[in-house]
Amino acid sequence: MKRILLTGAQGQVGQELLTVLTPLAEVVVVDRTHLDLTQPDAIRQLALETQPHLIVNAAAYTAVDKAETDRETAKAVNGTAPTVLAEAAQTLGATLIHISTDYVFDGSQNSAYTESDPTRPLGIYGETKLQGEIGIREACDRHIILRTAWVYGSKGKGNFVKTMLKLGADREELRVVADQIGTPTWAKDIALAIAKLSAAHLQSVTQPVLVGGGAPDDAIDPLPIGTFHFTNSGVASWYDFAVAIFEEARRLDWAGKIDRVVPIATADYPTPAQRPAFSVLDRRKWSAWAGAHPPHWRQSLRAMLSELSTQPE
Ligand SMILES: NC(=O)c1ccc[n+]([C@@H]2O[C@H](COP(=O)([O-])OP(=O)(O)OC[C@H]3O[C@@H](n4cnc5c(N)ncnc54)[C@H](OP(=O)(O)O)[C@@H]3O)[C@@H](O)[C@H]2O)c1
Repeated sequence: MKRILLTGAQGQVGQELLTVLTPLAEVVVVDRTHLDLTQPDAIRQLALETQPHLIVNAAAYTAVDKAETDRETAKAVNGTAPTVLAEAAQTLGATLIHISTDYVFDGSQNSAYTESDPTRPLGIYGETKLQGEIGIREACDRHIILRTAWVYGSKGKGNFVKTMLKLGADREELRVVADQIGTPTWAKDIALAIAKLSAAHLQSVTQPVLVGGGAPDDAIDPLPIGTFHFTNSGVASWYDFAVAIFEEARRLDWAGKIDRVVPIATADYPTPAQRPAFSVLDRRKWSAWAGAHPPHWRQSLRAMLSELSTQPE
């Protein structure tokens, strides 16, 4: 039986991953109580004990503003830990699948960022996530870095959707930033994308990889390696996203008090960390490999809210 080591299992994406990875292999699940990712020796020891064929790292220091004053922890979790996981994967001949972020870009482009566009993070979170990317590329041949953006899900702690619903329950008016553009992405869609990548890698452990045309009917997909951009389809501002959240929630009979969402500028909502003004990711490399486009963000938002409405408080 193949074995997957899954870190960050209590996170938004981590919880979705557990569901979709379980049919593929034995999943060794670790959260903070089993492994503190600020401890490199503990990471090495766990990897050696577990002997996984695949490591999926869904853990990260994701508090973008807090990272500005907690650089060392952010660096340990986002920069050093992925590098140590990559070294362990290389030693074991395993694959590492790691999740990264649109915040490695500075947002100065006005067309979607491809995997090879130059990075220039604006804050500590993006900087430390980039350190993790660099460490992984140097340490491990069989790696996938899946950059995604604006993640929300029904599981895990807070996110933009849950915050909007909480605030909109009691307030008639909300002011939301309209000059940052990106793509809201459902944690479940990210998990499904990673499951597809995982299946290809687990299959390749014992089977030859057939690349290019002329392959027999039962050929497996060419083995994906390297950096991929994956988000839902479409683009939106945080303002667009907020408006859609309330429209879709009302369709499900949500009884919030919200009456008006007012578009504001980033300058009117200062935060400790600067965010990219435009961080749409070009997904063509992913779609070419997967043979499909991800669902539109609005479709996934609808599905997530429907799931949330049936979830106990
Ligand atoms: N959220 C976004 O908008 C966004 C956007 C782009 C990319 N991403 C990337 O997507 C991935 C998944 O994000 P997410 O939204 O699912 O994150 P999340 O919900 O914040 O989950 C991250 C997980 O990492 C764990 N973790 C943090 N520090 C740890 C440590 N020292 N030791 C062990 N575990 C630790 C957390 O544990 P605790 O629960 O105990 O704190 C949490 O379960 C991350 O790589 C993130 O950088 C996220």
